[in-house]
Amino acid sequence: MEMAKKSFEYFQYNGVTFVSPIHSIEQLEWVKDLKMDPDIPLLVSYPKSGTTWVQQIVSLILSNPNDTDEKSKNLSQKAPWIEYTLFKTDFNKHQLLTTHLNHEMVPNVVKSKMIKIIYLARNPKDVIVSSYHFHKYSRFLTAPKDFQDFLEQFVEGNVFYGSWFDHIRDWYSHKDELNFLFVTYEDMQKDLRSVIEKVASFLNKKLDAGTLESILDQCTFNAMKKNPYTNSHNLSGLFHSDKGSFYRKGIVGDWKNHFLVSQNEWFDSIYQEKMADFPVKFD
Ligand code: A3P
Repeated sequence: MEMAKKSFEYFQYNGVTFVSPIHSIEQLEWVKDLKMDPDIPLLVSYPKSGTTWVQQIVSLILSNPNDTDEKSKNLSQKAPWIEYTLFKTDFNKHQLLTTHLNHEMVPNVVKSKMIKIIYLARNPKDVIVSSYHFHKYSRFLTAPKDFQDFLEQFVEGNVFYGSWFDHIRDWYSHKDELNFLFVTYEDMQKDLRSVIEKVASFLNKKLDAGTLESILDQCTFNAMKKNPYTNSHNLSGLFHSDKGSFYRKGIVGDWKNHFLVSQNEWFDSIYQEKMADFPVKFD
């Protein structure tokens, strides 16, 4: 891919870390006034929360899951990120749009009840672990010195897309002004069928039993890892494919294999400090 030949560079915009040329100041400015079609929902998440999983679920809900034309489109092109420079596309021609941006930086039209927003969250400890490995796997991110260093950078918000704490708190604090559905990675792991039904109902889609089964089959970890249209192989220029896989483990609680007891205690104390009054509790 063309992008691989360029060198990547971090830059700050509104106090948040982005990566050039995947992001540009022009695109981040432009996106604020993006006119969005009210019929197209927006998936919002902090990176490594399971975004791809929800993109696949929503794409299948909104299209006929047995439609071969739809199946042969890359997921990242079906549900593009509005802030990436990668997708030269008319955003109003998609069924779903995606963003990792914080609330302050999204298009103005999103800050109203006009656009349906699906906000995806994941236990931050698993986000940290997933992100740590993703930093080693991606060509566009700087490989962490070690896990301790990455943990500190994450807590400081000194990482790609800034602070996890600010992202979730900020979006959640605006939820009553928005047309907002909150879903978690942990709920998807516990009872995917119910989450799919909840998302479908939010999008005013009725799913018959056969369609629901077909969606469930097509969005398992193994099915998505094998499927060339969902496994990011089209973006292979962005990754060191010898250093891992986008579909790494896909489980809840891998943090227990990475955090030392002292790191866990330290993170819990920070979490208490920053999130004590936050109403959602992660498993
Ligand atoms: P791990 O690194 O913990 O395995 P994002 O899409 O936001 O970048 O998130 C990627 C994370 O979601 C990765 O987590 C990936 O394995 C997980 N994931 C993607 N698709 C999944 C699926 N179908 N089932 C479970 N986890 C999935």
